[in-house]
Amino acid sequence: MSVNKEIKRITTETLRKMKVDGEKISMLTAYDYTMSLLADKANLDAILVGDSAANVMAGHETTLPITLDQMIYHAQCVVRGAKRSLVVVDLPFGTYQSDPQKALESAVRIMKESGAHAIKLEGGKEIEESIRRIVNAGIPVMGHLGLTPQSIYQFGSYKVRAKEDAEANKLLEDAKSLEELGCFSVVMEKIPAELAKKVTEAVSIPTIGIGAGNGCDGQVLVIHDMLGLNNEFKPKFVRKYLNLEDQMVQAIEQYVEDVKSSDFPNINEQY
Ligand code: KIV
Repeated sequence: MSVNKEIKRITTETLRKMKVDGEKISMLTAYDYTMSLLADKANLDAILVGDSAANVMAGHETTLPITLDQMIYHAQCVVRGAKRSLVVVDLPFGTYQSDPQKALESAVRIMKESGAHAIKLEGGKEIEESIRRIVNAGIPVMGHLGLTPQSIYQFGSYKVRAKEDAEANKLLEDAKSLEELGCFSVVMEKIPAELAKKVTEAVSIPTIGIGAGNGCDGQVLVIHDMLGLNNEFKPKFVRKYLNLEDQMVQAIEQYVEDVKSSDFPNINEQY
Protein backbone atom coordinates (compact mmCIF):
# COMPACT_ATOMS: atom_id res chain seq x y z
CA MET A 1 0.00 0.00 0.00
CA SER A 2 1.48 3.39 -0.98
CA VAL A 3 1.67 6.55 1.13
CA ASN A 4 -1.34 8.89 0.92
CA LYS A 5 0.35 12.22 0.15
CA GLU A 6 -3.01 14.06 0.17
CA ILE A 7 -2.99 13.97 3.97
CA LYS A 8 -1.80 17.35 5.24
CA ARG A 9 -1.37 16.37 8.89
CA ILE A 10 -1.73 12.93 10.40
CA THR A 11 -4.11 13.02 13.36
CA THR A 12 -5.26 10.42 15.87
CA GLU A 13 -8.36 10.11 13.68
CA THR A 14 -6.16 9.33 10.65
CA LEU A 15 -4.55 6.48 12.62
CA ARG A 16 -7.97 5.12 13.62
CA LYS A 17 -9.04 5.19 9.96
CA MET A 18 -5.81 3.44 8.94
CA LYS A 19 -6.71 0.56 11.26
CA VAL A 20 -10.21 0.35 9.78
CA ASP A 21 -8.80 0.43 6.22
CA GLY A 22 -6.06 -2.09 7.03
CA GLU A 23 -3.28 0.42 6.27
CA LYS A 24 -0.27 -0.17 8.51
CA ILE A 25 0.99 2.71 10.65
CA SER A 26 4.68 3.66 10.56
CA MET A 27 6.26 5.23 13.64
CA LEU A 28 9.84 5.94 14.70
CA THR A 29 11.39 7.85 17.55
CA ALA A 30 13.08 11.21 17.05
CA TYR A 31 14.55 13.55 19.63
CA ASP A 32 15.80 16.49 17.59
CA TYR A 33 14.86 18.83 14.74
CA THR A 34 17.02 17.31 11.99
CA MET A 35 15.87 13.71 12.51
CA SER A 36 12.27 14.90 12.74
CA LEU A 37 12.63 16.84 9.47
CA LEU A 38 14.04 13.76 7.71
CA ALA A 39 11.40 11.40 9.11
CA ASP A 40 8.64 13.80 8.11
CA LYS A 41 10.14 14.17 4.61
CA ALA A 42 10.05 10.36 4.31
CA ASN A 43 6.28 10.41 5.02
CA LEU A 44 6.51 8.71 8.39
CA ASP A 45 3.02 8.64 9.94
CA ALA A 46 3.96 9.29 13.55
CA ILE A 47 7.02 10.38 15.51
CA LEU A 48 7.56 9.31 19.09
CA VAL A 49 9.62 11.61 21.25
CA GLY A 50 10.45 8.62 23.42
CA ASP A 51 11.96 8.74 26.87
CA SER A 52 14.54 6.45 25.26
CA ALA A 53 16.18 9.85 24.71
CA ALA A 54 17.60 9.14 28.18
CA ASN A 55 19.57 6.23 26.67
CA VAL A 56 20.19 7.36 23.12
CA MET A 57 20.79 11.08 23.58
CA ALA A 58 22.06 11.27 27.15
CA GLY A 59 23.84 7.92 27.62
CA HIS A 60 21.90 6.80 30.71
CA GLU A 61 21.52 3.09 31.37
CA THR A 62 17.74 3.32 31.82
CA THR A 63 14.95 5.72 30.88
CA LEU A 64 14.33 6.70 34.49
CA PRO A 65 16.55 9.79 34.88
CA ILE A 66 15.07 11.94 32.08
CA THR A 67 13.06 14.91 33.38
CA LEU A 68 9.89 16.58 32.19
CA ASP A 69 11.85 19.72 31.22
CA GLN A 70 14.25 17.60 29.14
CA MET A 71 11.36 15.79 27.40
CA ILE A 72 9.75 19.16 26.63
CA TYR A 73 13.01 20.41 25.11
CA HIS A 74 13.28 17.32 22.85
CA ALA A 75 9.60 17.61 21.92
CA GLN A 76 9.96 21.30 20.96
CA CYS A 77 12.83 20.41 18.61
CA VAL A 78 10.86 17.56 17.00
CA VAL A 79 7.67 19.58 16.59
CA ARG A 80 9.59 22.23 14.61
CA GLY A 81 10.63 19.58 12.07
CA ALA A 82 7.34 17.70 11.70
CA LYS A 83 4.93 19.20 9.20
CA ARG A 84 2.92 16.05 8.45
CA SER A 85 3.69 13.45 11.11
CA LEU A 86 1.73 13.13 14.33
CA VAL A 87 4.06 13.88 17.26
CA VAL A 88 3.59 11.82 20.44
CA VAL A 89 5.65 12.55 23.56
CA ASP A 90 6.45 10.20 26.46
CA LEU A 91 5.55 11.32 29.96
CA PRO A 92 8.77 10.55 31.85
CA PHE A 93 9.05 8.33 34.93
CA GLY A 94 7.69 9.93 38.10
CA THR A 95 5.52 12.54 36.39
CA TYR A 96 2.21 10.63 36.30
CA GLN A 97 2.27 7.53 38.51
CA SER A 98 1.83 9.20 41.90
CA ASP A 99 -1.43 11.07 41.43
CA PRO A 100 -3.85 11.96 38.63
CA GLN A 101 -3.62 15.73 39.20
CA LYS A 102 0.15 15.61 38.78
CA ALA A 103 -0.30 13.45 35.68
CA LEU A 104 -2.64 16.01 34.15
CA GLU A 105 -0.27 18.87 34.97
CA SER A 106 2.64 16.99 33.35
CA ALA A 107 0.61 16.27 30.22
CA VAL A 108 -0.61 19.87 30.00
CA ARG A 109 2.96 21.16 30.23
CA ILE A 110 4.04 18.92 27.35
CA MET A 111 1.13 19.99 25.14
CA LYS A 112 1.37 23.71 25.98
CA GLU A 113 5.15 24.11 25.93
CA SER A 114 6.07 21.83 23.02
CA GLY A 115 3.13 22.01 20.63
CA ALA A 116 3.07 18.18 20.36
CA HIS A 117 -0.16 16.39 19.48
CA ALA A 118 -0.41 13.58 22.04
CA ILE A 119 1.29 12.00 25.03
CA LYS A 120 2.23 8.40 25.83
CA LEU A 121 2.48 6.73 29.21
CA GLU A 122 3.32 3.24 30.44
CA GLY A 123 0.97 0.91 32.29
CA GLY A 124 -2.58 -0.40 32.41
CA LYS A 125 -5.25 -0.49 35.10
CA GLU A 126 -2.93 0.78 37.84
CA ILE A 127 -2.76 4.23 36.21
CA GLU A 128 -6.35 4.43 34.98
CA GLU A 129 -7.23 7.51 37.05
CA SER A 130 -4.31 9.42 35.55
CA ILE A 131 -5.33 8.39 32.03
CA ARG A 132 -8.97 9.35 32.66
CA ARG A 133 -7.96 12.79 33.92
CA ILE A 134 -5.71 13.48 30.92
CA VAL A 135 -8.22 12.20 28.36
CA ASN A 136 -10.98 14.28 30.00
CA ALA A 137 -8.83 17.37 29.50
CA GLY A 138 -8.92 16.70 25.76
CA ILE A 139 -5.36 15.40 25.46
CA PRO A 140 -4.89 12.35 23.23
CA VAL A 141 -3.25 9.48 25.12
CA MET A 142 -1.29 6.53 23.75
CA GLY A 143 -0.84 3.59 26.13
CA HIS A 144 2.21 1.32 26.41
CA LEU A 145 2.02 -2.31 27.60
CA GLY A 146 4.30 -5.35 27.72
CA LEU A 147 7.92 -4.45 28.36
CA THR A 148 7.56 -1.02 29.92
CA PRO A 149 11.13 0.24 30.42
CA GLN A 150 10.18 2.61 33.26
CA SER A 151 9.50 -0.57 35.35
CA ILE A 152 12.83 -2.18 34.54
CA TYR A 153 13.88 -2.52 38.17
CA GLN A 154 10.66 -4.39 38.91
CA PHE A 155 11.11 -6.69 35.87
CA GLY A 156 14.84 -7.18 36.47
CA SER A 157 15.64 -7.60 32.76
CA TYR A 158 14.64 -6.55 29.22
CA LYS A 159 13.39 -10.07 28.38
CA VAL A 160 10.17 -10.80 26.45
CA ARG A 161 7.08 -10.15 28.62
CA ALA A 162 3.72 -11.90 28.90
CA LYS A 163 4.85 -15.39 27.91
CA GLU A 164 2.87 -16.89 30.80
CA ASP A 165 -0.95 -17.00 30.74
CA ALA A 166 -1.48 -14.79 33.79
CA GLU A 167 0.57 -11.89 32.42
CA ALA A 168 -0.83 -12.38 28.91
CA ASN A 169 -4.42 -12.25 30.23
CA LYS A 170 -3.64 -9.12 32.25
CA LEU A 171 -2.15 -7.48 29.18
CA LEU A 172 -5.27 -8.24 27.13
CA GLU A 173 -7.50 -6.84 29.88
CA ASP A 174 -5.27 -3.76 30.22
CA ALA A 175 -5.49 -3.11 26.48
CA LYS A 176 -9.30 -3.27 26.68
CA SER A 177 -9.26 -0.86 29.67
CA LEU A 178 -7.04 1.58 27.75
CA GLU A 179 -9.55 1.50 24.91
CA GLU A 180 -12.47 2.09 27.32
CA LEU A 181 -10.61 4.93 29.01
CA GLY A 182 -10.36 6.69 25.66
CA CYS A 183 -6.72 6.08 24.65
CA PHE A 184 -6.37 6.54 20.91
CA SER A 185 -3.72 3.85 20.48
CA VAL A 186 -1.48 1.46 22.40
CA VAL A 187 2.17 0.44 22.02
CA MET A 188 2.96 -3.20 22.80
CA GLU A 189 6.63 -3.87 23.43
CA LYS A 190 8.47 -7.21 23.35
CA ILE A 191 5.60 -9.65 23.74
CA PRO A 192 4.81 -12.87 21.80
CA ALA A 193 3.53 -12.17 18.27
CA GLU A 194 0.49 -14.38 18.83
CA LEU A 195 -0.60 -12.37 21.88
CA ALA A 196 -0.06 -9.05 20.07
CA LYS A 197 -2.27 -10.27 17.21
CA LYS A 198 -4.97 -11.37 19.65
CA VAL A 199 -4.95 -7.95 21.35
CA THR A 200 -5.02 -6.18 17.98
CA GLU A 201 -8.13 -8.13 17.00
CA ALA A 202 -9.77 -7.53 20.38
CA VAL A 203 -9.54 -3.71 20.45
CA SER A 204 -10.77 -1.06 18.02
CA ILE A 205 -7.84 1.32 18.70
CA PRO A 206 -4.63 0.92 16.65
CA THR A 207 -1.89 -1.20 18.22
CA ILE A 208 1.72 -0.28 17.52
CA GLY A 209 4.26 -3.06 18.03
CA ILE A 210 7.95 -3.08 18.87
CA GLY A 211 9.25 -6.62 19.06
CA ALA A 212 5.62 -7.79 18.96
CA GLY A 213 5.39 -9.33 15.48
CA ASN A 214 3.52 -8.47 12.33
CA GLY A 215 -0.03 -8.78 13.62
CA CYS A 216 -0.09 -5.23 15.04
CA ASP A 217 -1.69 -2.28 13.24
CA GLY A 218 1.65 -0.48 13.07
CA GLN A 219 5.32 -0.64 14.03
CA VAL A 220 7.67 1.59 15.97
CA LEU A 221 11.46 1.44 16.28
CA VAL A 222 14.08 3.65 17.85
CA ILE A 223 15.47 5.58 14.87
CA HIS A 224 19.09 5.17 15.99
CA ASP A 225 18.61 1.39 16.00
CA MET A 226 17.14 1.10 12.50
CA LEU A 227 19.79 3.45 11.10
CA GLY A 228 22.50 1.24 12.62
CA LEU A 229 24.02 3.94 14.81
CA ASN A 230 25.02 1.52 17.55
CA ASN A 231 26.66 -1.78 16.56
CA GLU A 232 26.58 -2.99 20.19
CA PHE A 233 22.77 -3.07 20.32
CA LYS A 234 21.34 -5.85 18.16
CA PRO A 235 18.11 -7.31 19.47
CA LYS A 236 16.26 -9.72 17.16
CA PHE A 237 13.34 -7.31 16.55
CA VAL A 238 15.45 -4.49 15.06
CA ARG A 239 15.91 -4.41 11.29
CA LYS A 240 18.95 -2.31 10.39
CA TYR A 241 18.32 -0.32 7.23
CA LEU A 242 21.77 1.30 7.30
CA ASN A 243 25.07 0.80 9.04
CA LEU A 244 25.64 4.41 10.00
CA GLU A 245 28.00 3.73 12.90
CA ASP A 246 30.68 2.35 10.58
CA GLN A 247 30.07 5.02 7.93
CA MET A 248 30.18 7.88 10.44
CA VAL A 249 33.30 6.61 12.19
CA GLN A 250 35.01 6.21 8.80
CA ALA A 251 34.01 9.73 7.76
CA ILE A 252 35.29 11.25 11.00
CA GLU A 253 38.54 9.27 10.77
CA GLN A 254 39.00 10.62 7.25
CA TYR A 255 38.37 14.19 8.47
CA VAL A 256 40.91 13.78 11.28
CA GLU A 257 43.46 12.52 8.73
CA ASP A 258 42.71 15.38 6.32
CA VAL A 259 43.11 18.03 9.03
CA LYS A 260 46.35 16.48 10.32
CA SER A 261 47.82 16.26 6.81
CA SER A 262 46.68 19.82 5.91
CA ASP A 263 44.63 18.36 3.04
CA PHE A 264 41.56 20.13 4.49
CA PRO A 265 40.65 22.86 3.70
CA ASN A 266 41.87 23.12 0.12
CA ILE A 267 41.77 26.29 -2.02
CA ASN A 268 38.13 25.69 -3.02
CA GLU A 269 37.13 25.44 0.63
CA GLN A 270 38.41 28.82 1.74
CA TYR A 271 37.61 32.52 1.18
O1 KIV B 1 10.90 5.54 24.52
C1 KIV B 1 10.75 4.83 23.52
O2 KIV B 1 11.56 4.86 22.58
C2 KIV B 1 9.60 3.94 23.47
C3 KIV B 1 9.55 2.96 22.34
C4 KIV B 1 10.50 1.86 22.61
C5 KIV B 1 8.19 2.46 22.09
O3 KIV B 1 8.76 3.98 24.31
